[in-house]
Amino acid sequence: MAVSMTQSVEQRIESLRRILRQHNHAYYVLDKPSISDGEYDKIYQELVALEAQHPKLITPDSPTQRVGDAPLDHFEQVTHLNRLYSLDNAFNTNDLQAWRDRLVKQLGEEAAIEFMAELKLDGLAISLMYEDGLLRYGATRGNGQVGEDITQNLRTIRSIPLKIPVQGTAAPPKKLEVRAEALMPIASFLRLNEDRRKAGEPEFMNPRNACAGSLRQLDPQVPASRNLDALFYTGIIIEPGPDTPTITTHQAMLDYLASLGFKLNPVRQHCTHLDDLEQTIAQWDTQRHSMPFNSDGVVVKVNDLRQQDRLGYTAKSPRWAVAYKYPPEVKPTKVLDIELSVGRTGNITPVAVLEPVILAGTQVQRASLHNFDELGEKDVRIGDTVDVHKAAEIIPEVLRVHLKQRPQKTKAVEPPATCPVCDAPTMRKEGEVALRCSAPKTCPAQRANRFEHWVSRQAMDIDGVGPALLEQLMERELIDTPADLYTLSVNDFLTLDRIKEKSAQNAYTSIQASTDRPLARLINALGMPHVGKETAVLLANTFYSMDALCRASDADLVAIDGVGPKVAESIVTFLADPDTVLLLEDLKAAGVRMADEKPETKVDASHPFFGKTFVLTGTLPTLGRQDAEEKIRAVGGKVSSSVSKKTDFVLLGDSPGSKAAKAEQLGVPSLSEAEFLAQL
Ligand code: IVH
Repeated sequence: MAVSMTQSVEQRIESLRRILRQHNHAYYVLDKPSISDGEYDKIYQELVALEAQHPKLITPDSPTQRVGDAPLDHFEQVTHLNRLYSLDNAFNTNDLQAWRDRLVKQLGEEAAIEFMAELKLDGLAISLMYEDGLLRYGATRGNGQVGEDITQNLRTIRSIPLKIPVQGTAAPPKKLEVRAEALMPIASFLRLNEDRRKAGEPEFMNPRNACAGSLRQLDPQVPASRNLDALFYTGIIIEPGPDTPTITTHQAMLDYLASLGFKLNPVRQHCTHLDDLEQTIAQWDTQRHSMPFNSDGVVVKVNDLRQQDRLGYTAKSPRWAVAYKYPPEVKPTKVLDIELSVGRTGNITPVAVLEPVILAGTQVQRASLHNFDELGEKDVRIGDTVDVHKAAEIIPEVLRVHLKQRPQKTKAVEPPATCPVCDAPTMRKEGEVALRCSAPKTCPAQRANRFEHWVSRQAMDIDGVGPALLEQLMERELIDTPADLYTLSVNDFLTLDRIKEKSAQNAYTSIQASTDRPLARLINALGMPHVGKETAVLLANTFYSMDALCRASDADLVAIDGVGPKVAESIVTFLADPDTVLLLEDLKAAGVRMADEKPETKVDASHPFFGKTFVLTGTLPTLGRQDAEEKIRAVGGKVSSSVSKKTDFVLLGDSPGSKAAKAEQLGVPSLSEAEFLAQL
């Protein structure tokens, strides 16, 4: 009876997983949702509940297991089974022809050479290993021979299958290596940087750096929150299975990967002649600008895999492939004005107002000059003709001035001694390039930007209240601090210009709805310098309530992985400010939620394993790995994947790996399962 009960639970769990995998594939790989979010959630929650009741049945390939592993303390190295080469470049059609001529010379005049052209996406090369259909590990390219094991971060990318589903009755290859470009969509990059800018955090240079930075995080929560994607461009069958087809062309390999559920680079084209190839490359130069990802060229590969083998490799790159690079687009235009904009934290940024030009597919009429140091170095003046381009093909940037064309009398824009909006003196903190307005409390620009931040989607998400409405509310002195928003009535809105009953009602309702946001949003909404959306999540997940956060000391804050001394100091100073104290009291009185529910585990701080870091190695006699990890976490311990000086215990099973030796070397005590259970 008991057995058949568990079997049916097991079957239900497997069938839920299968259904979720199918919908995931439709949504994240094919971009064709096959179910509503609500229905998906229902199935997902059923699986979560069953797995919670039967933790023994949790397997790493379950759709519930994408995020959730504890932060690592470092990444392990991985030696690639097959080296990841780089590519030779071609910058024009001559280079392409020369490449083709070399192919012909090596393969013989009579060889019919066909090509695959693929848009070269500008991200990060990754390699994934699947054994019997299960994702075993994923690694960065590194130096091509040795990379870093970033499996736990790659698992958070929804388009990467944790398990290759069985196709009908066809089993996946026994061992398959696949390679992809890990990417951050341009839109996500822009949003991330906007958040970071508003929070006074350093911005990423381009989507590639943002993607690389995300995948380098030891805490998988970070990449999980950043909407990364992976587009696959090749596979190597290391050990076929009974149903693995014989593949003789690159194109067939791509089709096979798609059939296994991998997401391919959609911009690819089979070409039989160099002419086709050149045409394709020219066509894509415009098309590429409407893709969600950055691309900087076209990868051209010999399609026939036997020909590839014959051509082989040079020291650095395959002879059978080449990367055609598009020339960067630079255009001259006129500087009509240089405006000074004042941000939420008081930063004063010079912005060049340009005569409109089309760059990388969109019209550009403003370009940030970042700060007065840069403005001075480039010596940009109103009336100048300048070269502009898009940095990383996204962000408009002034490259240089055409000095020969400089008109007779131009005036350089100097760093202002007073704020261009409120006239308060400006200041510059030591060690910072930013020039700031010194009146955070009264400067209308800073105040307006802070209110806009408060209602923004990343913060309290008040969608019925936009910038125009906020401006009127401030002008009429209906709001002074964000807490005042919560005292407004529908009638207050009706006294404003151009506001009808419906939008007044809408504004009121969305403000009220925002009283119940999770703590992380409230923390982000406060707009503390150096605290953005992600730090806010870390703080909420550590303290669970605003009160607890307010009581936190510098030391408590620095103890959080991801919070440094500068950020900690900023938080403590901000929260101790009498204005902040008052604001928080008013918000509380207005009914704004100040805490998250703490996950209900009663952890006993006197338990010998409380706060201790464990590393598991080898096979345990009775406990599954998941079981053991859960038991450790349940008593307040942590699990890490690698041994270091910070490791407190190694839980030692049969045939342990190199971790046991490392532990011994570092003098980390090890426990057998029996000892572990006894102390538990
Ligand atoms: S093939 C040995 N195909 O470009 C063959 N690479 O400069 C090398 N890349 O590290 C890879 N899109 O990160 C290939 N469709 C594509 C690609 C692509 C982007 C990147 C990849 C690689 C780099 C080589």
